[in-house]
Amino acid sequence: MSRPLLSIEALSASSLRDGNQPVLRDVSLSLEPGQVLGLVGESGAGKSTIAKALLGILPAGIKVTDGRIHFDGRNLLELDQRALRGIMGSEITLIPQDPQTALNPGRRIGAQLTDGLRLKRGMSVRDADERALQLLEEVHIRDPERVVRSYPHELSGGMRQRVLIAAAFALEPKLVVADEPTTALDVTVQKEILRLIRRMQESHGTAVVFVTHDLGVVAQICDRITLLYAGKVIEAGTTADVLTAPKHAYTKALIAASPRYDRQDAGLEPVPETVFEALRCEVGTQGKETADGR
Ligand SMILES: Nc1ncnc2c1ncn2[C@@H]1O[C@H](COP(=O)(O)OP(=O)(O)O)[C@@H](O)[C@H]1O
Ligand SMILES: [Mg+2]
Repeated sequence: MSRPLLSIEALSASSLRDGNQPVLRDVSLSLEPGQVLGLVGESGAGKSTIAKALLGILPAGIKVTDGRIHFDGRNLLELDQRALRGIMGSEITLIPQDPQTALNPGRRIGAQLTDGLRLKRGMSVRDADERALQLLEEVHIRDPERVVRSYPHELSGGMRQRVLIAAAFALEPKLVVADEPTTALDVTVQKEILRLIRRMQESHGTAVVFVTHDLGVVAQICDRITLLYAGKVIEAGTTADVLTAPKHAYTKALIAASPRYDRQDAGLEPVPETVFEALRCEVGTQGKETADGR
């Protein structure tokens, strides 16, 4: 087995906003170069917190209380701002959730794609312009010459997401973090975007941490799954193992509740309350949730 590119060890964090409620509880996971890891869980499970920690953009309201994030031999949590700036947007990049807000509305697409190539890779204007056109072709944008001269509002949501995918892979990062990158898109576009991310990561050999609440999405794109509930890892393994031989009752219930896995749609079962009760006991959120009235 090759050395992991990313290894999160016993990461714990709490939310200063919610009276020091734990947000991550002793989370460990690892990812090898070129692999796609699905970070799965319902809203509030802590997925985006992990994504933000990887990108060095944890909000002030969240405090890491323990653990390490080893990326390519360095603990990201111990690096100073300068060292982090060298990694973020260069070795680790983001495919954001909402393509509407992620691009600068006042600048042409071409300029937004070439900035990084020029500033972080030292390319000449001419080489960067050429590379931007190639990247747009790679993400199957027709008429790249027109698109580089366009402003974001002139493109559809799906096109914008293609541009952002091109931007995420442009600098040949080692790791791309995608936080629910298809949630804001039309259902018809979602599948194409998933296939595109998979194709880009395969052809560039890039590792991806793919955040989603949707097991159907995981099945299409991820090599491995880490399932979280209330900040705790409930189940982890290869996608095939977790989806075909889940160990935990919560995983089983989620699979039964997922339309893409239960072909007889009439048989869809919501996750039973008893499963949540057992989970709360296991994770240790029972007392606090009652106290909060949540
Ligand atoms: N800016 C913040 N300040 C304090 N707590 C936060 C902040 N953002 C999120 N949290 C808390 O972290 C927990 C996990 O949130 P998040 O990682 O966004 O979950 P997910 O992405 O799985 O939906 C939530 O319970 C939320 O209250
Ligand atoms: Mg989130």
